[in-house]
Amino acid sequence: MATKSKAPTSQFVCSTCGYAAPKWLGKCPDCGNFNTMQEELIRVEQAAPSARVGVSVMKTRAMPLSKIGYEKFDRVKSGIAEFDTVLGGGIVRGSLVLLGGDPGIGKSTLLTQVSAHLAGVGKVLYVSAEESCSQVKMRCERLGLDSDNLYLLNETCLEDIEASLDDAEFVVIDSVQAIYTEALSSAAGSVGQVRECAAKLMRIAKSKNVTFFIIGHVTKEGALAGPKVLEHIMDTVLYFEGQQEDNYRLLRAVKNRFGSAQEVGVFEMTDAGIKSVRDYSNLFLSETRGVAAGSAVTPSESGNRCMNVEIQTLISKTPFGAPRRMSLGVDYNKLVVLIAVLEKRCGLPFWSSDVYINAMGGIKLSEPSVDLAICAALASAVSDVPIDKYTAVFGEVGLTGEIRPVTYAEKRVNECIKTGFKRVILPAKNVKSCEKFKDKIELIPVQYVGQMIKALNLNAK
Ligand SMILES: Nc1ncnc2c1ncn2[C@@H]1O[C@H](COP(=O)(O)OP(=O)(O)OP(=O)(O)O)[C@@H](O)[C@H]1O
Ligand SMILES: [Mg+2]
Repeated sequence: MATKSKAPTSQFVCSTCGYAAPKWLGKCPDCGNFNTMQEELIRVEQAAPSARVGVSVMKTRAMPLSKIGYEKFDRVKSGIAEFDTVLGGGIVRGSLVLLGGDPGIGKSTLLTQVSAHLAGVGKVLYVSAEESCSQVKMRCERLGLDSDNLYLLNETCLEDIEASLDDAEFVVIDSVQAIYTEALSSAAGSVGQVRECAAKLMRIAKSKNVTFFIIGHVTKEGALAGPKVLEHIMDTVLYFEGQQEDNYRLLRAVKNRFGSAQEVGVFEMTDAGIKSVRDYSNLFLSETRGVAAGSAVTPSESGNRCMNVEIQTLISKTPFGAPRRMSLGVDYNKLVVLIAVLEKRCGLPFWSSDVYINAMGGIKLSEPSVDLAICAALASAVSDVPIDKYTAVFGEVGLTGEIRPVTYAEKRVNECIKTGFKRVILPAKNVKSCEKFKDKIELIPVQYVGQMIKALNLNAK
């Protein structure tokens, strides 16, 4: 362990007004806000520029675009096809990849597998700040992984980690909330520590061309714990999602400097580790589709792929005065608005019922195109009439009950054809672009929610 230096290296700065104090204060004396003082490093070089006021010292020169050269990204395969897809075609050397996700979702497992594969390319250092080396070894044994080029380190001090890097080409930090830098006195996981450690890792990555995979914990709300600046520093930010009870996991890119930020990877968690799922056509569809009332299928677009996802709803008589609404995988506010639209525009009764909604397989549906399928599922549940198994629905619903066109209509219809659907209900304004599919699938254009309910024979009892 390196020894702590005595000289004050840090100060507490108000994140609202920038007031600096040598000690932590609950209330900022300058702006009066509470809990805004965060520990930061005192950077000596920051004080210097005042000495140069009025004197222009040219350090860098502007260059014409045509004269600027660049090196082609050197992409390395991770050994897990879906992981490469989400990264935009492979791992870019010298990049920082942040992997966030719920506890126990499989972050360490995924990166252990990637590390073992990368060990065939170059030296890999797996820094396990949360688990002992023997725990990591146990996981490797379970997954059948072994390599002389994969080094394990159980360390939490960033300075010691830096000293142990040697000639490692790939480094995994598990996790950024568990490591600390000696420059700051605050506890590991605090905002100041997370920010400083990430900034230091970025400097190492760029100067030594080392690739870092950094695991980050998420808060109760699902965002990455720590400051937003953590996401700004990273080249790529990935979220590992899914429900623990389900074996399927989704890896979503939310930021990628080297590829599309819309990519989604589908994985299966098995006893032998995490595996890519290439055939996901029936993954988000249930067996009871077409039999039970309250379910509708929509083709959902994420990244470069389109997936048919089933939305299930359950409606029960409310035992209390205020009816309950609960949603999983669908925005709660969207659900409340669409219930109001169905009540007001179509006269469907929800005022005395509890409403539960769930997107199958733990997927999160945030596109506006799922609106119409949510309405279809709700109308089916309230009327107790199941929707035909081979009918898919998509379209955005406005507050007046009108159905707006959506993007990627052709891709969605094509996916429905591929997965064996016989008809699709879609916004009238999208029909023109999809007419070429008329021979393969029946297209039912709708302009208002009421038309969709009629087309599906979902009239309330
Ligand atoms: N012996 C086992 N057999 C099968 N699956 C296992 C076994 N042990 C653990 N798992 C699976 O691995 C998951 C834990 O994976 P992992 O430790 O990679 O998650 P994590 O996201 O790193 O969690 P944490 O946030 O706690 O670090 C468990 O939820 C479980 O599903
Ligand atoms: Mg872990």
